[in-house]
Amino acid sequence: MKTQVAIIGAGPAGLLLGHLLKAEGVDCVVLERQSGDYVLGRIRAGVLEEITVSLMERLGLDQRLKAEGLVEDGFNLADGERLIRIDIANLTGKHVTVYGQTEITRDLMEAAPSRGLEVIYQAGDVALHEIDSDAPYVTFTADGVEKRLDARFIVGCDGYHGPSRKAIPVGAAQEFERVYPFGWLGILADVKPCYHELIYANHQRGFALASMRSPTRSRYYVDVPLTEKVEDWSDERIWDELATRLGPQAAAGMTRGPSIEKSIAPLRSYVFGLMRHGSLLLCGDAAHIVPPTGAKGLNLAASDVHYAAEALTAFFRKQDGEGVGNYSAKALARVWNAERFSWSLTKLMHRFPEDGPFERAMQVAELDYISTSKAAQTSIAENYVGLPV
Ligand code: APR
Ligand code: PHB
Repeated sequence: MKTQVAIIGAGPAGLLLGHLLKAEGVDCVVLERQSGDYVLGRIRAGVLEEITVSLMERLGLDQRLKAEGLVEDGFNLADGERLIRIDIANLTGKHVTVYGQTEITRDLMEAAPSRGLEVIYQAGDVALHEIDSDAPYVTFTADGVEKRLDARFIVGCDGYHGPSRKAIPVGAAQEFERVYPFGWLGILADVKPCYHELIYANHQRGFALASMRSPTRSRYYVDVPLTEKVEDWSDERIWDELATRLGPQAAAGMTRGPSIEKSIAPLRSYVFGLMRHGSLLLCGDAAHIVPPTGAKGLNLAASDVHYAAEALTAFFRKQDGEGVGNYSAKALARVWNAERFSWSLTKLMHRFPEDGPFERAMQVAELDYISTSKAAQTSIAENYVGLPV
């Protein structure tokens, strides 16, 4: 098989890139290790920046997003009894849209056949070859048969654990990592959200987040030590913890119900300091991870893909290699901004086991400052809606 761009991974990054390239007349094939149903079983964050919405719009795949997405003009930071509202619409003139990442993936996946985007699911043993050359290729197995896909470029959209980043020689790039001493225990339930906007809470018992998927579906999180097991958390125990941590206003509006999904996800900040090596480009979680505080993961994947699609389109349509040459630096500049924001919001809103009274006093001082300073609120708001692409 031969194509112009071989894309590894059919998560949101790989599917979005595939659609954008197809729309520009660039040939591509997407290889995914799992089945489509498995990919759609993953529950991830659900707050979209304008860049993500605009890419779906450009593809003409935004009907459901526009009909079902919830436009949010603000969000809240809770600290004990107080609720600090960040009025993102007034501070930035922009908003965010609450629409699950799973739904974005579903919209992209369902539109693939009609747009002629070839996605090969259950591709086994995917391996990258000759990425230093102008003629890289990928080998894989499909239905037990060994295959080879030749391309001019390979784009690794295969998440943190995929083979693409590992194909880059050791020492070619610096890695940056911060592992946090807790995970987020998430619960999804078909109940009305407790509040009309998201609430991130820093309580003495720990962090909590009230989010939503629709007017009748809620998504909540509490942070837990990494040693906790999801089996030890009954729904009732999670609801009790949420009601305490989110504060009286949210607790009063909270409807409890049976969980339809429950899982613990560890928190990590990670950057691989090179997003292109030879004929291989990396996009999304393959190159970087943010902790979910601030919901930047999907949006960063979308901006990477936007830069990569632009660069590859210029290469194939105008024989212009400058965009490909600049891709890594351009994408990394935006990645570092989002890494900083996600890290600082994580530090502000969580109780770290190693923290003492001084660190807590700093959190209180910062929250006091945010509650009284328009400049501080504007800084948070402009990062939350997403810095320019
Ligand atoms: N071969 C083929 N596909 C693979 C392989 C492999 N060896 N390894 C992983 N994949 C696939 C995974 O099965 C998955 O479907 O790559 C895809 C990567 O998708 P995601 O992990 O969703 O990553 P990405 O598309 O970059 O999306 C970023 O998703 O992980 C969240 O928080 C993250 O919101 C962010 C967004
Ligand atoms: C979610 O709805 O799952 C969500 C929202 C905001 C975050 C993280 C997750 O910061």
